Amino acid sequence: MNSSPTERFRLDGQVAVVTGASSGIGRHCSLLLANAGAKVALASRNIKELELLAKEIVSAGGHAKAFHLDVTQQSSVTQCFTQITSWAQPTIVINNAGVSVTKSLLEQTEADWDRVVDTNLKGVWLVATEAARTMVATKTAGSIINMASILGERQINGVAPYAISKAGVIQVTKTMALELARYQIRVNAILPGYVITDLNREFLQSELGEKLRMRIPSRRFNEPHDLDGPILLLASAAGQGMSGSTLVVDGAHLVSSL
Ligand code: NAI
Repeated sequence: MNSSPTERFRLDGQVAVVTGASSGIGRHCSLLLANAGAKVALASRNIKELELLAKEIVSAGGHAKAFHLDVTQQSSVTQCFTQITSWAQPTIVINNAGVSVTKSLLEQTEADWDRVVDTNLKGVWLVATEAARTMVATKTAGSIINMASILGERQINGVAPYAISKAGVIQVTKTMALELARYQIRVNAILPGYVITDLNREFLQSELGEKLRMRIPSRRFNEPHDLDGPILLLASAAGQGMSGSTLVVDGAHLVSSL
């Protein structure tokens, strides 16, 4: 018999890797996935923060473990996946780690470009390919979710390398979806609009932030929990028919009037 609609969003028996899990959207997403029944591998550079989060999840009855990961280094990604797979075989990957450098185009340096593009684009590529290799080798069906941004499709002043890297993430998603479909591995991207996290709270609540909010047709910034539905849809059996898609979660910001 078919499972009920709510059951199809559950993640019991699944193993999720979340990169950049120590703060913001990654932290929220780790709690969400654990709550939905997944075992969660928390991966980032800040192992102390991750261990605290793992404790929080375990004391609420879930399963989680902290793993050190620098997404910009192939050696770190390989080592991290060796450790994760000896704990549990991943079936879900949330490529969430990301950074931005805010400066005008003419002030952006080679180091700024390398930091942003290595983390946001190369990092997504390294983690997704490493995850896919373990899934293919163990004949495991999987779902890879890349955190892109509406800035992968539109522009704003001051964050050129960031916007360029997120446009790349959208194409990584589509090309990987094509090549991995034969292995039952789905690859999708989420394009959030502005999401209030510790990183940007001060700015979004400033006068400039208020001006920005007034340009969003829904007149609201997202909270991390606004991403819950899209993440669970793409991660679970409820989204089994979806691969290569880009899910926009932005209160109509991308379709704002010119
Ligand atoms: P955040 O700064 O709170 O989280 C980013 C995480 O990535 C941190 O835990 C950080 O330690 C980790 N990280 C950075 N470099 C890393 C590396 N080399 N290796 C491993 N981990 C690394 O930011 P936030 O807001 O939670 O963003 C999460 C993702 O969502 C990013 O990819 C961001 O671009 C994307 N996003 C955020 C939006 C927002 O308005 N907050 C809007 C659209 C997309």
